[in-house]
Amino acid sequence: MTSWSFPRAEALPTYAFVATDALKARVRASGADLIDLGLGNPDHPTPQAIVDQLHAAADVGSHHRYHPGRGFPALRAAIGAWYERRYGARFDLDREVIVTMGAKEGISHLCLAILDRGDYAVVPDPCYPIHAGAPGIAGASVEGYASGPGVDPAKSVADAIARVEAKGGRVKLVIANYPQNPTGAVVTKQALGDLVRVVQKSGALLLHDLAYADLDFASRYAPSIFDCGVPVEEVKSFAVEVFSMSKSYHMPGWRIAYMVGQERMIGALGHLKTYMDYGTFIPLQVAAAWALEHGDALVSEMRALYQRRATALAEGLRSAGWDNVSEPSGTMFIWAPLPSVWSGLTAAQVGDRLIERAHVAVAPGTGFGPGGEGFVRFALIEDPPRLTEACRRIGEALRG
Ligand SMILES: Cc1ncc(COP(=O)(O)O)c(C=O)c1O
Repeated sequence: MTSWSFPRAEALPTYAFVATDALKARVRASGADLIDLGLGNPDHPTPQAIVDQLHAAADVGSHHRYHPGRGFPALRAAIGAWYERRYGARFDLDREVIVTMGAKEGISHLCLAILDRGDYAVVPDPCYPIHAGAPGIAGASVEGYASGPGVDPAKSVADAIARVEAKGGRVKLVIANYPQNPTGAVVTKQALGDLVRVVQKSGALLLHDLAYADLDFASRYAPSIFDCGVPVEEVKSFAVEVFSMSKSYHMPGWRIAYMVGQERMIGALGHLKTYMDYGTFIPLQVAAAWALEHGDALVSEMRALYQRRATALAEGLRSAGWDNVSEPSGTMFIWAPLPSVWSGLTAAQVGDRLIERAHVAVAPGTGFGPGGEGFVRFALIEDPPRLTEACRRIGEALRG
């Protein structure tokens, strides 16, 4: 048994949020009260009105059966209405829409369905780990493009495509994500349109991750690729977009998301999923449909919550002596350059030091790709009093 290799699993680096688990466990075992701002795991329960819908739908016996296919019709109708209301874009609910078990599952299986050895994928660096991981798992070669505040998204993607072409390769898939995890970068409609045009011109396919659609602090809805100034029918000819219920509706454990757009890409994912699963539990889909149709006020509260926390943490860190911290323009994270008093340390060393000396856990930037060196990510998953306590401890550690 020990002589077998498991190449796909072994090729994957340790997942960003698992790397510090052992150290965190040791600190907790010593009795310390660890403030964990590592994983972006929303702390609030799902709003009761959505949970009530789940309870009611779970009482219907016919909802307990397998539900193969691309998603419960009522949910696909709610998805169509959501896109039309926000972005003025219409989709064929049978051919251009699919419900997935979270965005992570959808992204992973889409890559497995459409990529193979010899293909190239261009992904942000730093990125949410599955954006690089999924093409890699599918066997594709991955080329990173610089991401984060201050980067021109279209130019950065164009440069990466040119690098692949200079190696004799051809890019099959570009992954983009705005508002972006981990950097908090947002795009304007114009900048997203420019990026879409660059990908279109290259002949590659595009996957845009819009998980933080409701967390662009400057505009009510973050721009969608289906409302970026490029005609929808053109975008539909080479691109898909994924949205997750996890963040906007505090539903991370429910594992429910959806992908819309290019018919063959959606079809390939749907085909793969006929082998992989039998669809999401119907009551979850019924409750998700209700949330999309009735949850605008809940989403506005969630947005205000993260913005309040971002302000509290950024101010707290600055007064604790952590220089160069700015408030993010979106998402639920602060992407902070390492404090200059600890110059010379790597992101991983700063992460360990914060756990050991301040009993505060963050995500070291390198967990999101080599471009994350020099940064750590704070997830805004505690209320201001606890964030203030975290900053007090960090201040002591920085001084001490
Ligand atoms: C950019 C991005 N996409 C997707 C997800 C995960 O979405 P889901 O819970 O639907 O898998 C996250 C979670 O942190 C994320 O940051």
